[in-house]
Amino acid sequence: MCKPLIAGNWKMHGTTESATNLAAQLARHRTQEANEKEGAEIIVFPPFVHIPSVVAATANSNISVGAQDCSQYPDGAYTGEISVEMLLDQGCQYVLVGHSERRAVIGEGNQMVAEKFKAAQAGGLIPILCVGESLQQRQQGTTVAVVAEQIAAVIDLVGLADVCRAVIAYEPVWAIGTGETASPQQAQDVHSAIRAQLGEAGSSTTLLYGGSVNASNAAELFAQPDINGGLVGGASLKADEFLNIAKSIEA
Ligand code: PGA
Repeated sequence: MCKPLIAGNWKMHGTTESATNLAAQLARHRTQEANEKEGAEIIVFPPFVHIPSVVAATANSNISVGAQDCSQYPDGAYTGEISVEMLLDQGCQYVLVGHSERRAVIGEGNQMVAEKFKAAQAGGLIPILCVGESLQQRQQGTTVAVVAEQIAAVIDLVGLADVCRAVIAYEPVWAIGTGETASPQQAQDVHSAIRAQLGEAGSSTTLLYGGSVNASNAAELFAQPDINGGLVGGASLKADEFLNIAKSIEA
């Protein structure tokens, strides 16, 4: 069975105070007992510098902490980069790789994303591989091919089995931060293509949908057979809304 999961990507928002407050609010509602009832695992992805305070604020809850990116290199002269080992050392369990903003703004390509995935997994973090098409690619009808190529680059480097034990987040670029969500059917179509690409080995791989998920549209998206949870940006910055999104997942 695919493990239901809700991930909050805080992007480049917040101060130590606001990040700690948000984490503490979530933690209050997600004690061990509550989490068992709700069923979905919650992970938050604060900016690097807030990771230590968020790890401390969520210590007595079932909330996991991840990073928004990692270096593909273990250590060395890479100014500004953060290694997998550093993230583990700070208490992270997960890391996003290949988020569309890093692909588009920073220029990360499929090969670099695959290398980051490999470094993360080899080091002991669970990567959440983000994939998705641009508006132009959707209009050209190449959505499934684009997503398949993004995933294939990682399979080529680490093998199918290792990709299947990670998490994949399908996030159409045109739906991220725009308020425009893929319809449940559009999302399900791509998720089912991803599931088909992974084959039998991916039957229990957790597949997330991301792109303007909020408390009003989450239940319908998560009810789709191949959608096992969400990667939430804007709506993850409000504790109540994020917790409502988590509640809308059927355990
Ligand atoms: P959004 O962001 O929910 O604000 O659209 C999603 C993401 O970028 O992961």
